[in-house]
Amino acid sequence: MVQFPRDFLWGAACASFQCEGAWDADGKGPSIWDDFCHESGGKNIKHGDNGDVACDTYHRYREDIALMKAHGIRAYRFSISWPRVIPDGDGAINEAGLQYYDNLVDALIESGIEPMITLYHWDLPSALQHKGGWLNRDIVTAFERYARLIAERFAGRVRCFMTLNEPQCAASLGYGIGIHAPGWKLSGECVARVYHHMALAHSAAQRAIKAVAPDVRVGVVCCGRMAYPLVDTPEGREAAYRASFDLSEEWAFSYNVFLDSLIWRRYDDSANAVLRRFAAEIPESDCLLMETPDFLGMNIYNGQPVDESGRPVPFPAGNPSTALKWPVTPEVMHYAPMHLHRRYGLPMIITENGLSCNDKVFLDGKVHDPDRIDFLHRYLTNLSMAIAEGTPVMGYLHWSFLDNFEWADGYSERFGLIHVDYETLQRTPKDSARWYAQVIASNGDVLNEVPKYGCV
Ligand code: BGC
Repeated sequence: MVQFPRDFLWGAACASFQCEGAWDADGKGPSIWDDFCHESGGKNIKHGDNGDVACDTYHRYREDIALMKAHGIRAYRFSISWPRVIPDGDGAINEAGLQYYDNLVDALIESGIEPMITLYHWDLPSALQHKGGWLNRDIVTAFERYARLIAERFAGRVRCFMTLNEPQCAASLGYGIGIHAPGWKLSGECVARVYHHMALAHSAAQRAIKAVAPDVRVGVVCCGRMAYPLVDTPEGREAAYRASFDLSEEWAFSYNVFLDSLIWRRYDDSANAVLRRFAAEIPESDCLLMETPDFLGMNIYNGQPVDESGRPVPFPAGNPSTALKWPVTPEVMHYAPMHLHRRYGLPMIITENGLSCNDKVFLDGKVHDPDRIDFLHRYLTNLSMAIAEGTPVMGYLHWSFLDNFEWADGYSERFGLIHVDYETLQRTPKDSARWYAQVIASNGDVLNEVPKYGCV
């Protein structure tokens, strides 16, 4: 029987750069993603796409909120564009930028939708990048000031703040392999330094927000490798738990390098030479600065099955995959929250989950996306299993509400419940949006039946 807690928070998410557009409107400063798209003749992004207009949410947020309301969305996780509110990152404040978020927050509340703010979803002010970005420790003070500004402005209206989105990707894709902004390809030591500064920045921001508003909840959103047992036995579960936090092969795309530093106030120096050298350099005084978040945001897309000795089991030929060729592994939604709860004991929210499909408007004018309905049905059913086993997951935020700018893949990948025509900016709810509305209205009860694909 699929069941969710009575006060479970059903919602959706997006990020400033991926949907807002208006990249230089009303005093906004440039971000590293504006630069990354515009530089080198557009070669950094598929088809030379950029975020200049994106979904134009900056001008169309009322229409989008009306669509959220029509589909029963109860919470909306969005990020604030740091350079929209502080154009150079640590200088003058741009009142027009703050006003946009004021309007957005008020419009959400008027529609009965809980606003949830992420402070940093990767669009760093370019001026801070010119000073070294996350490699320069001064960023900690700049982030703290930015966090205080946002808390002072929104604390009465917003009860849930997330400091950073996926330090794992920001550090390893942005500073390690360079396929994301700022496109730097640096050593493992530098990537570790970025991690450390992000951990310090989270902690300073959390203290600043709490000083302004002691009652709000402050979380951090992470992602990383997660394993699940191919066969559900006690040995299989134990092996999957160990494999999920094993740093010996690969450490940068892990939950634990970042979260151990915040929660356990130490870096794991057992498994990897880079981390060993790095951990040895971190002074005790830095560890004492770390703040345990009130909750963890988990972005879960897929996982790796392992056998009872923790060895990865290859996917069978023809295993289902998404348009991005990510494997479809609903079981990860059962085990990953359990692994993280066992390790850290904190409440959690699924802050992102979804998939890219090759969606289009069909001849009947609708967008039929049975793959998304099937995927979500399976993942949500697995999430209910984690909850049934006592894992404190407070909510689920679908990624994404609208189709949007998918980073280096530009507009080629469609993750939304709502289809966006990028020529006309017309929004068309997909079948999955109507189906998700039923999930929300029934608090997950419809998951007890096989979905009616297509004609929702
Ligand atoms: C990011 C989103 C992204 C999604 C799908 C997450 O890593 O937080 O910004 O669009 O995954 O790739």
